Amino acid sequence: VTVASDGKRAKTGSSMRDLGEIRDGAVIFDDVIRWRGPMTEFADACSSLGIAPEELQLDDCSGLTVLPGFVDSHTHIVYAGSRAHEFARRLSGVPYTTIAAEGGGILTTMRAVREASADEIVHVATQHAQRALEHGTTFIEVKSGYGLNLESEVKLLNAAVEVAREVDIRLVSTFMAAHDVPPEFRSSPDDYVRHIVDDMLPAVADIDVLSFCDVFTDKGFFSVEQSEIILQAASGYGLGLKVHADEIAAIGASNMAARLGCVSADHLEYTTEADVDALRDAGVVCTLLPGTAYTLRLPPPNARMMIDRGAIVALATDCNPGSCLSENMQNVLSLACMTLGMSIEEAIVAATLHGAAALRVHDRVGSIDAGKEADMVLYDVPTYADIVYHFGVNHVLGVYVRGEMVA
Ligand code: NIG
Ligand code: FE
Repeated sequence: VTVASDGKRAKTGSSMRDLGEIRDGAVIFDDVIRWRGPMTEFADACSSLGIAPEELQLDDCSGLTVLPGFVDSHTHIVYAGSRAHEFARRLSGVPYTTIAAEGGGILTTMRAVREASADEIVHVATQHAQRALEHGTTFIEVKSGYGLNLESEVKLLNAAVEVAREVDIRLVSTFMAAHDVPPEFRSSPDDYVRHIVDDMLPAVADIDVLSFCDVFTDKGFFSVEQSEIILQAASGYGLGLKVHADEIAAIGASNMAARLGCVSADHLEYTTEADVDALRDAGVVCTLLPGTAYTLRLPPPNARMMIDRGAIVALATDCNPGSCLSENMQNVLSLACMTLGMSIEEAIVAATLHGAAALRVHDRVGSIDAGKEADMVLYDVPTYADIVYHFGVNHVLGVYVRGEMVA
């Protein structure tokens, strides 16, 4: 399954159903994909590349399925502690927003992070990243946002750098101090916004692998006005912009994402047709997180409406201790098909090429096309449909990153 992109950033509308499947296919690669096509053209491809077929190391994948590595463009895997007790309370009917208003939720994890050592956080995140890799994710985004003060946000962003060194996954990080207002600033949230802009952004902007800034623009968290101040400032440091939008209520977050030219707007449970048109026209990737809608029992985002209106729809895990504790993108495909009404083909494009677009790395990864880096995953299934059809187990047999088998 190539997810052939024809050099484009995205496959929208009906082109999202075209996976560029090649039956009885082959790939020639070193760290980069040199050629891919049907076996019948293999000998010709070798001669035009000036390669003698006997010089190649052959990996026989007969009966198996190869996909581009998943690009999980939205996670919060640098944290400490557990929220299992809050999960149990939610099952008994207490809403997520009530737990948050009591000082639980994100603030529960904040307290654990502030107390944890850097090593403990690296340990948690390394395990999540390794498990993501073993489930077929070759590129992952990691957000800070459980420290909510300079010292602890730096601790989280540095932990992400450490994870990138320890795990063979590719990783970029996102600064998200605007995930919630910490207790010190509860009576003056605007002062926290100023603190983020004046003190935190300048101190974190140069941390390795930091690429984006994200804000939780929603009822009870950050207003559109506050979010704009933070995002405008982040843009000045060369960071790409992301927004957690329309998850709890529609307060104009996705419209702001379009206006500011954000790389992606994520969640989008309450997004209207007019908002989707604005996101589409501004080229903002609409990143849907079906695991979160499932775990929090939110109304599923309207993926069909978004795809039919030509928006760029991506899928990600949102892996985090509060609203979706899973690093398994195969499972996200299943949830997208079963709860968002996406087709298997659409879900695969959304989890690969469009994830890459949401991280601005679509020129390098996200499809099996000549010239892209060789991030590919081998599944022990006869067709790609079986990954979704036979759900709840890990079908991955092998993971290549830059052409090396790393898991
Ligand atoms: O993406 N929406 C905000 N942030 C996370 C949840 C964080 C948490 O509950 O710890 C999310 O769902
Ligand atoms: Fe999130």
